[in-house]
Amino acid sequence: MKTLTIAVIAGDGVGTEVIPQAKRVLEKVGHKHELSFVFEDFDWGAEHFFRWGQMMPAGAIDLLQPCDAILLGAVGHPKIPDHTTLNGLLLPIRRAFDQYANVRPAYLYPGVASPLSRPKGGDIDLVVVRENTEGEYAPVGGFVYRYQPEEVAIQTSVFTRRGCERIMRFAFEIARQRDRKRRVASITKSNAQGYSMVLWDRTFQDVAADYPDIETESLLVDAAAMNFIRRPESFDVVVGSNLFSDILSDISAIIVGSMGLAASANLDPSRRFPSMFEPVHGSAPDIAGKGIVNPLATILSAGMMLDHLGVADAAREVQAAVAAVLADGKVRTPDLGGKSSTEEVGTAVLEKLA
Ligand SMILES: NC(=O)c1ccc[n+]([C@@H]2O[C@H](COP(=O)([O-])OP(=O)(O)OC[C@H]3O[C@@H](n4cnc5c(N)ncnc54)[C@H](O)[C@@H]3O)[C@@H](O)[C@H]2O)c1
Repeated sequence: MKTLTIAVIAGDGVGTEVIPQAKRVLEKVGHKHELSFVFEDFDWGAEHFFRWGQMMPAGAIDLLQPCDAILLGAVGHPKIPDHTTLNGLLLPIRRAFDQYANVRPAYLYPGVASPLSRPKGGDIDLVVVRENTEGEYAPVGGFVYRYQPEEVAIQTSVFTRRGCERIMRFAFEIARQRDRKRRVASITKSNAQGYSMVLWDRTFQDVAADYPDIETESLLVDAAAMNFIRRPESFDVVVGSNLFSDILSDISAIIVGSMGLAASANLDPSRRFPSMFEPVHGSAPDIAGKGIVNPLATILSAGMMLDHLGVADAAREVQAAVAAVLADGKVRTPDLGGKSSTEEVGTAVLEKLA
């Protein structure tokens, strides 16, 4: 029996509703694969902030480091500014553990309707690879004349050749591993951002030269947004900066049916540190506490975690169970047009695993 220690940060809002369903699925699939899980729950997030003035305690990173992986629900609270919640928990973890590759697959499951009328189940199958530690999210900048009428804000993006190169190589490797269309699209804006994105483009050309078996295209981010809607079937792996990929992966999430299906992995591919797995969605305060949030994005994220931890069979079973629930079309939360609860969807996945 192999034991995996998983740090669990359920976080805020619907995060606390989706995480228990993912734990149920992990326990069930673990049982079949001689795996046991030790879940170390950390009650960090908005409530911690209200009590202690911090989203997580000072030694948080040290507590997470010994774990095999981190499973995260969502952070964000209507009464706390979003930059406080994000910079107080999520971004420090991603940076401390050098989780530079944020992988966000978008697959249109058979049985799920895309808001785009043309694609059928299986037609959309792409993965957004987001640079996760630098770029537009670098904490570099400041205020001058703060709160005065002449207030000035400066926010500087940081693009390094090392940072660009490693995420691009990772994207090309994924294109090979997936072995589907063997295509990588690079997202740029070098027509307007004449330094950072020019470095991005040059690095992409250099890295692409090492992968002659992979087809490439370079798209301005505005054109990419349009093409995610116009020709989503043409994409395979899409690599972009922290901000561009964050925005594009919301488009890819909705064209495959719902934010409630969008899973993600924050990977340190070198495996020096634990990687973190979380749904793409936030704490969804508009539906929090109603028991109707779709748990499938979190369950699929837990599946990605199993794959990363070397239990590929169990990961495939989780994905197949989710696909079977979606194909049946009987048990669905309201975001997918159904009337089922979060718990009922979790139970339906467990039944498919059995
Ligand atoms: N990774 C994160 O923790 C993360 C990501 C994005 C936003 N946030 C935070 O979450 C809060 C809310 O942000 P937002 O409203 O822009 O984004 P959101 O993702 O929380 O919600 C956007 C919309 O999608 C719906 N939705 C999201 N997930 C769903 C699911 N699993 N099932 C059904 N419907 C779902 C919500 O009801 C809402 O209408 C903010 O505080 C924001 O900063 C956190």
